[in-house]
Amino acid sequence: MIKVDLSGAAPFWGGEGPDYGAAAAAHRTLSEGSGAGSDFTGWLTLPRRMKDGELPRVLETARRIRESGEALVVVGIGGSYLGARAAYELLGRQKDGVELIFAGNGLSADYLNAMIERLGERDFCVNVISKSGTTLEPALGFRVFRSLLEKKYGPEEADRRIFATTDRARGALKSSAGIHGWPTFVVPDDVGGRYSVLSAVGLLPMAAAGLDVEAVIESAIAAFAALDRRDESNPCWQYAAARQRLFRLGKKIEILACYEPSFRMMAEWWKQLYGESEGKNGLGLFPASVEYNADLHSMGQYVQDGPRHLIETVLRFKNPRRGYAVPSFADDSDGLNYVAGHDFNEIAAIAAEAVKDAHVAGGVPNIGIEVERCDERGFAGMVCFFELACALSGYMQGVNPFDQPGVEAYKKNMFRMLGDWK
Ligand code: PA5
Repeated sequence: MIKVDLSGAAPFWGGEGPDYGAAAAAHRTLSEGSGAGSDFTGWLTLPRRMKDGELPRVLETARRIRESGEALVVVGIGGSYLGARAAYELLGRQKDGVELIFAGNGLSADYLNAMIERLGERDFCVNVISKSGTTLEPALGFRVFRSLLEKKYGPEEADRRIFATTDRARGALKSSAGIHGWPTFVVPDDVGGRYSVLSAVGLLPMAAAGLDVEAVIESAIAAFAALDRRDESNPCWQYAAARQRLFRLGKKIEILACYEPSFRMMAEWWKQLYGESEGKNGLGLFPASVEYNADLHSMGQYVQDGPRHLIETVLRFKNPRRGYAVPSFADDSDGLNYVAGHDFNEIAAIAAEAVKDAHVAGGVPNIGIEVERCDERGFAGMVCFFELACALSGYMQGVNPFDQPGVEAYKKNMFRMLGDWK
């Protein structure tokens, strides 16, 4: 279970603490489906629906992918990509799993070439993921890897190596899949891209990489049930209400910090979730991320001494996966024998405490998030916690947390300009 610690934020509340009444109202609005964007709240029941629906086919397809080669090229962008990559980087490729190669998340030819080189001569499959089926970046990335499949295997075998995750009925990708007979998985109508990681969007690549997606789904079902409780002990209420209180106190930027380098893409997933959900109508904390301890030696200066518009949310795993004891030397020439025999995890915990004290003293409110362990269960717990807290926080802020009208602006310009080539 996830725990939220607001002891480092409380000194900044002034007379008024987090508004749990508003959190309760937001939770009611969400569960009654009476708020803006209520057509897109299907992520709340997604784990249960996956278990009763596509999950067996996801597992079977992942097995086929593992038997067909050593790599899966995962083509997608934004919500159709970040969740799977976050899980893969956090938990790692497991025994018998294929390597995941991510493509279609930009237009860099240099990156594209690097991914083709990484793939090398290995046998591979492609999972193309796009809810709309019309997003330019993955559509072009898919063209490249589909053409490589056809060159390597011929058109018929290429078609057997392509798996499409898209809308149930609409879009160019759905039509192409129908023409070529590619197996398809569904991004449900009532789930937006950034809330879709627990659908086939995230689960198929994760399962192909050997991750235990059944454990992910079981844990997510349990997590959403636990997070439905309607009182101040709900960690989603605590996180959402604290963020909103600090935003109203004039804070502008929330930095998500973690002491595990493997958390980097999880932070990217979190940034999309909060940035797209809350950054509208001139409102919203700007979600940023840092990787500690490394960034303590760069961004740490700004956090400690820069403008006081920051809040810092620090995520820690209670039970680290592995330990390592500091070695001892007879000569003690660096004078560090006093820490010899202690585990790096013990030292990291002290460093984190020291950082919290320093940053709070420097005027940066601190929100602590503790996750039991860094495994599939922990991953599922974090996804459910951050999704629910985001929806509540968005409603408390008075915006629709499920649309992203601002993302359309650049697309319109780009397609207009590209249209000149027709
Ligand atoms: O959250 C969102 O809706 C977006 O980030 C989309 O996931 C992203 O733009 C990709 O869209 P699509 O899956 O339609 O290709």
